[in-house]
Amino acid sequence: MLTTERNRIVEVRRAFPSLDEMTYLNVATHGLTPQPILDRYLELISLTARYGHMRYDDQDVPAYQRARSAVAGILDVPPTWVAFGRNATDGINQVLAGLAWQPGDEVIISDQEHPAVYLPWNYGARRGFFTPKTFTVDPDPAVTLRNLEEQITPRTRLIACSHVSSQTGIRLPGPAICALAQRLNDAGRDRPILTLIDGTQELGQWRVSVPAIGCDFYVSNGHKWLGGPKGSGILVVREQAFPLLTPPYMAGGIDDFEDHVEDVLNHRDAPRMFESGTQNLAVVTVLADLVNWLDNLGWSWIEERERNLAAYIRAQLRTVPGVTLLTPDAWEQSSAITSFTMEGMDALHIHRTLWDQRIIARWVPERNGIRIATPYFTIEEELDRLISALRRIRAA
Ligand SMILES: Cc1ncc(COP(=O)(O)O)c(C=O)c1O
Repeated sequence: MLTTERNRIVEVRRAFPSLDEMTYLNVATHGLTPQPILDRYLELISLTARYGHMRYDDQDVPAYQRARSAVAGILDVPPTWVAFGRNATDGINQVLAGLAWQPGDEVIISDQEHPAVYLPWNYGARRGFFTPKTFTVDPDPAVTLRNLEEQITPRTRLIACSHVSSQTGIRLPGPAICALAQRLNDAGRDRPILTLIDGTQELGQWRVSVPAIGCDFYVSNGHKWLGGPKGSGILVVREQAFPLLTPPYMAGGIDDFEDHVEDVLNHRDAPRMFESGTQNLAVVTVLADLVNWLDNLGWSWIEERERNLAAYIRAQLRTVPGVTLLTPDAWEQSSAITSFTMEGMDALHIHRTLWDQRIIARWVPERNGIRIATPYFTIEEELDRLISALRRIRAA
């Protein structure tokens, strides 16, 4: 690695002092917040606790609006398409509870969904809203697409899936899935197929363009790859889909103190109408600071580093006896998540043994696997430490 690059990473890592205490490979569960952003977050909590508002002057609403614009910016959508909620789960439930289902509707999800998708889907099915169907994810996007196509019928109403699988790090062909739905819709259907993309495992890994994906609904959160606080759910609804969602409950939003029943009934101002009641100003506001931090690092630098680290860990894992990768090599088909199994070994045991050595990874119970996340601030030495630990676990 070039000295200038090395110096840059050393500098970036100063913002994450806890990395001196542990090898953290789990931002796919909980991100780490850069120290300057954490300082700002604590200041905002303190101001709102001590002064009620941010200070004497009423900066709350403009700050909130700035955060909405900043988040909209990294998703390439107008701010009016963005609503904040508690988490990604919230957004998924808003969509599944907000659509008007009709008898016979079918909802297709993939076989690698997080409980945030498959539980609301299962719940909706068991309440009789729709018939549940699944398609199998394959490392080859063409096979995934074919598997999905086989499940589509004239009754398909919604396709909901992750853009990056939280189990395997496989990047699903999101744009191709949405283009397929669009093609079928254009060919004429009684009820168009809607698309919901769960971008929880991609936002913060690279710059996302929701219009380029082409989905009707997009959900994510600020607390994983972005490194923000918990409670920062993001729901994006594209304008054409505004009339399709009816919020399950009614309340005023943070920057609208009027009674807006009329707006909600007429689907104006969606999806902001999902932000009911008083919001946590500090949580949302600090997202603007985070976006600024990541913009300053540079999205192409972030992605290039993640791509290199993913290639490095995969090559190293292959040298450990008994390891099978669950993640494909090609960056375009994967992400900065790498999952693997170790032949004949219990992944929970591996996970716990790693944690005992302060190597924080994630257990993937669905696959008896281990998941490693390698964000921009990870260094190769940390991955070498993981590999040595795995060799010792294997030999024990
Ligand atoms: C793919 C995916 N979707 C949804 C979620 C749930 O996110 P949240 O906790 O913000 O609801 C996760 C969390 O790990 C995830 O990996």
